[in-house]
Amino acid sequence: MGGDSNVSGRDSSILEFFAARVDRMRSSEIRELLKLIRRDIISFAGGAPDPITFPQKDQLNEAMEYISQNYMKAFQYGITDGLPSFREELIKFMERNMGIKASLNEVLITLGSQQAIEVLGKVFINKGDKVAVGLPTYIAALQAFNLWRPRYIGVPLDFEGMRVDLLEAVVKKYRNTSKPIKFVYVIPTGQNPTGTIMPLERRKYLLELASKYNFFIIEDDPYGFITFSEDIPPRLKALDTEGRVIYISTFSKIFAPGIRIGWIVATSEVMRYLSLAIQSSTLCPPNLNQYMLEFFLKKRYLDENIIRIRKIYKEKRDAMLESMDLYMPDKVEWTRPVAGFFVFAYLPDYIDTKRLLYYALEHEKVAYVPGRGFYADGSGYNTMRLSYSLPPPDQIRDGIRRLSRVVAKAIRKEIDYRTIEEAAV
Ligand SMILES: Cc1ncc(COP(=O)(O)O)c(C=O)c1O
Repeated sequence: MGGDSNVSGRDSSILEFFAARVDRMRSSEIRELLKLIRRDIISFAGGAPDPITFPQKDQLNEAMEYISQNYMKAFQYGITDGLPSFREELIKFMERNMGIKASLNEVLITLGSQQAIEVLGKVFINKGDKVAVGLPTYIAALQAFNLWRPRYIGVPLDFEGMRVDLLEAVVKKYRNTSKPIKFVYVIPTGQNPTGTIMPLERRKYLLELASKYNFFIIEDDPYGFITFSEDIPPRLKALDTEGRVIYISTFSKIFAPGIRIGWIVATSEVMRYLSLAIQSSTLCPPNLNQYMLEFFLKKRYLDENIIRIRKIYKEKRDAMLESMDLYMPDKVEWTRPVAGFFVFAYLPDYIDTKRLLYYALEHEKVAYVPGRGFYADGSGYNTMRLSYSLPPPDQIRDGIRRLSRVVAKAIRKEIDYRTIEEAAV
C-alpha cells in the first residue's frame, strides 16, 4: 500500500491505519548515525562487542555436537520461560559468579535483554506513570518504555552513577500524589552511556529507598562481567532481600550478541505476568540457542571466556583513557570507567556535539555518539559517548588524537557549523 493509496474511495495516508503509538516509535540517533559511518572512519559510536571476544571455534564445534544429541528438542517449539535444563545451568552460573540465588520459576529467558526491557515496559507502565531514569541513561530503554507513555523523572548522575540522594528528593515529592514513582531503571555497573559504577553504599541506600517508599528497581546489567578491577560491588539483586529488584542481563557481551539470549530474575508473582506478555509476542525463546549456551555453561567455557574478555576490553579502556589524558584539551571532563564499554565526555556548554559530529566525520574521519539522546529531558547537548569496545587499541589512540583536534577547534570556536550542516544535507 503506497503513501497516498485510495482504500475506500477517499484519499488516505497509510498513517491513518496505524495505531497512535507509532508516533512514539523513533529510530535511535545511534542507528541513524551508524548509517553515516564509512569504512575509513574510526568509530567510537556503536557499542558492539569485539568479534575476537566471541566463543572459540573448537568449542562451538563441540556445542554443535551437543545440539545434535538434543536434535528433536532443539528444533521444536519450547517453553515460554525458557528450557528448564538451560535455566538450571544459568541458576548455577549466577550462584557461583554473581551471588544471585533464584529458583526455576524466578528465571525467564528473553530475546536479548532488550526484549526484557520491552516486556517490563508493557507489564508495568500505564500512561503517565512516573518512571525514574538516570540523566543520562540507555537510549533504547527510553525508546522501549516510550511506547507506553510514561512520565520520566530524570535523576542526574555523577562519577559514581545515579545520585540516589536526588532520587530520594523526587520520590518524596511524589509519594503522596495519585502517581508516585513506580520504578527506577538503573545500570549500576558499567553504566551506558557513562561507564560509571555505583559504589556499595549507594546501592544499599537505593535498596533502602525502594523499601521505604515502595517502588521497584529494574537493574539492567549487561556489563556486570566486563569489569577491570577486583573491587566491584555486588549486584543490587544479590543484596535484595524483599524481591524489589527485577534483574536483567544478557549473553550479548560475554558470548555473542547474535545468539540473542538474555534473562530476567524476579519473584514468581512478577514473572507470571512477564511470562504471559512474552507468550503473546514470541511464544518461546529459541531452543537451539539455549542448548548452545547450556553447553557453554555446563562445560564452564563461558566462565573461562569471561576472564579472557576482561583482558581484551581492559587494554582498550586503557588505550582510550591514556590517549584522552594525553590529547584532550583542558576544558573537557570525562568518566574513567572500571566496567563496561564507554567513556562519557563533557565539553564546555557552548558546544553542541551533534553539530560537531559532521565536522568530525568530514575533517578528521572519527565518529562518536552525541550525548543528547541519552537524556530523557533533552539536555546533554554538550556531551559525547565514546565506545572503546570495537576498534583495536592502536586505532583507539589514533581516533582519540583526531577527535581531540576537533574538540580543541570547537573550544577555540574555530568551526563554522552552518557550512558543515549545509554540506551534510
Ligand atoms: C544498558 C543496556 N541494556 C540492554 C542492552 C541490550 O542488549 P541485548 O538485547 O543485546 O541483550 C544493551 C546493549 O547494548 C545495553 O547497553
